[in-house]
Amino acid sequence: MKRYGILCDGGDAPGINAAIRAVARAAFEEDDEVLGFQDGFFGLVGNDVKIITKHTVSGILPLGGSILGISRFNPLKDPKHIQAIKENFKKNALTLLILIGDRDTITIANKLADEGIPSIVIPKTIDNDIYGTDYSIGFNTAVTKIGSALDDLHSTASAHHRVMVVETMGRETGWLALFGGLAGGADYIIIPEVPYKIEEVAAHIERRKKEGKNFSIVVVAEGAPLPGDGNENIETDEFGHPVNRKRRVGYTIMEHLEKLTHIKSRTTVLGYIQRGGTPTVDDRILATRLGVSAVKFASEGKFNGVVGVKEEKIVFTPLSESAGKIHRADKKFYELARIFF
Ligand code: F6P
Repeated sequence: MKRYGILCDGGDAPGINAAIRAVARAAFEEDDEVLGFQDGFFGLVGNDVKIITKHTVSGILPLGGSILGISRFNPLKDPKHIQAIKENFKKNALTLLILIGDRDTITIANKLADEGIPSIVIPKTIDNDIYGTDYSIGFNTAVTKIGSALDDLHSTASAHHRVMVVETMGRETGWLALFGGLAGGADYIIIPEVPYKIEEVAAHIERRKKEGKNFSIVVVAEGAPLPGDGNENIETDEFGHPVNRKRRVGYTIMEHLEKLTHIKSRTTVLGYIQRGGTPTVDDRILATRLGVSAVKFASEGKFNGVVGVKEEKIVFTPLSESAGKIHRADKKFYELARIFF
């Protein structure tokens, strides 16, 4: 009999609960046990733990958020925390950890592997930036929300003949802006992977106006570079990532465009709406497949890796291969979106 310890690390993403349910149900099939740690690594360090039963995971498939809570907490920063993880792993007689997490989780898991703590990471993040999977849990739901927000913003932008800048999440990659913009018919998309000049965006908007399009929707990823010299002294978090909400990318780009085009402009920051709410069917199915596969890999003695999906097939990528890497937005989709600008 195996004993899995499960926790959620990073920012939440719709479909986490579906993944917890999948891990638990697959484990119960094998007569294995599952313990849940509350609020991510805080729970593992502080041994805030509970037994997961069939009852615990009943009815959680469509729920957003995480029944176990979630946090961004870097236990690598303090050797005492690593020691506590080792002790609690032993105390709870765990076989391995199942970490529902993101790129930072992979970095942590890779280090814990060196310390003798085995794990499997199930990738979740609306950003879709994890190396080792084509899609991460939560991305599809967030893109669906962006697409539907763009539908709504079209009518108000058109009625007022405005430029509407829509800022999506996506800390270092443009997947959300790109796929959301594709789904919602953006007139321009600005992402970190594709260099841009604000003057060219403005010229494009003016060209559209001359062609009789009296409004434009510009989708921008929060992690996109700012025009000019606004990219220095960026505040970072405890993992060294930029704190994008302080960069005000959507507002800054809107102000530049208004100045250059003299067309009235507004900004909508979609923010945490993208991370909230019930997961789409695609995210439920992805989470279910990844959760069940994580247990399958564990039962085959395969661990210290990221379980992912590539070209519809389940894949296993070693932590050491994924750690420190980033899954950047695929430029072929930008070429596709550009046809509709
Ligand atoms: O990692 C997902 C993400 O939603 C990013 O797109 C965003 O920059 C970040 O999390 C926000 O994190 P927090 O929840 O810590 O504000």
